[in-house]
Amino acid sequence: MLYQHILKPLLFKKDAEEAHEFAIKWASRTNNSLLLQKLVQTFFDGNNPELAQEFFGLTFPNPVGLAAGFDKNGVTPKAMQALGFGFIEVGSITAKASSGNPKPRAFRLPQDRSLINRMGLNNEGADVVIERLKKTNLKIPLGINIAKTNDMSIHGDAAIEDYVYSYNKALEVADYVTVNISCPNTGEGKTFEDPDALNALLIALKPSENDTPTLVKFSVDTDKKTLQKLVEICEEKGIDGYVATNTSSKRENLQTPTSVLKEIGNGGLSGSAIKNKSTQVITWLFEVLEGNKPIIGVGGIDSAEAALSKIEAGANLLQVYSGLVYKGPELVKQIKSGLGNQP
Ligand SMILES: Cc1cc2nc3c(=O)[nH]c(=O)nc-3n(C[C@H](O)[C@H](O)[C@H](O)COP(=O)(O)O)c2cc1C
Repeated sequence: MLYQHILKPLLFKKDAEEAHEFAIKWASRTNNSLLLQKLVQTFFDGNNPELAQEFFGLTFPNPVGLAAGFDKNGVTPKAMQALGFGFIEVGSITAKASSGNPKPRAFRLPQDRSLINRMGLNNEGADVVIERLKKTNLKIPLGINIAKTNDMSIHGDAAIEDYVYSYNKALEVADYVTVNISCPNTGEGKTFEDPDALNALLIALKPSENDTPTLVKFSVDTDKKTLQKLVEICEEKGIDGYVATNTSSKRENLQTPTSVLKEIGNGGLSGSAIKNKSTQVITWLFEVLEGNKPIIGVGGIDSAEAALSKIEAGANLLQVYSGLVYKGPELVKQIKSGLGNQP
């Protein structure tokens, strides 16, 4: 109510990234104040013990997580915990700090309850973010999402070393690490979703040589055949679970006029427009894996019904981002009560 009627109209007057910075500023203040955390918790929490689950040896008090990209620098985990999230994924972090792509780089498509972003992996860099997170004591699992530094001069073996650096840093604090191989917003426009590139990357990361669960995050644009190949490689290398999905480079299922989309330009599409496609990728993943590995379902979750359809497709845990922009932080509680009412 507070968000829909008061905050959202104010935030939607601002540019999408400015509105996000405003939200991060307040969340970060809450992160640093026990009093504000208690206040937020009183309004938003309401954990139902029946929603608690165990995956990869970690206890998730509920299955609703914060998706990567919202808190790239790890400045809000305690605030998100107070909001009632069951886990949070910080990042993507990269080995070197990066200011990302030129602004404007985040856009709302209100007609489609969707977003387009080409942030370009802006973050303070693995060293700074990991040191910050070392000082944060959380009761919920902390995921760290790693990507390659957005710098075209880093390629080939150097690109792999760049990932290895962030991976080893992340292992110092993470309860689980997500390897983001599907960011569409890098200068080179290339991702590690090429099977040979993924194979080389996972050989270097050696996920089976440590106890921290390591997950791989796929794009919503991955077709079934490619997905099968990629999963085969991941399974060989000891990947513990999957995040499905990242944003789309395509412009499908949209009401927004083509002229507006052209003006916006490149970027990853998220929100309602990718809801069904992301559910389809989860269904394929579940089939390929025969239900043997946990899947975090993400893409267009904006209600308890949308959350439920991801679970029915095979997701064990969930994450939200765009839904928060359109529905506000109340969405977390709304999903949890919807899931809690299931027979
Ligand atoms: C502004 C923005 C920035 C994002 N940054 C990242 C990122 O750094 N790393 C990542 O793995 N995913 C990133 N994502 C993708 C989200 O984690 C999520 O996979 C995607 O948005 C689909 O979920 P949604 O429809 O609930 O937003 C970003 C999404 C948005 C909207």
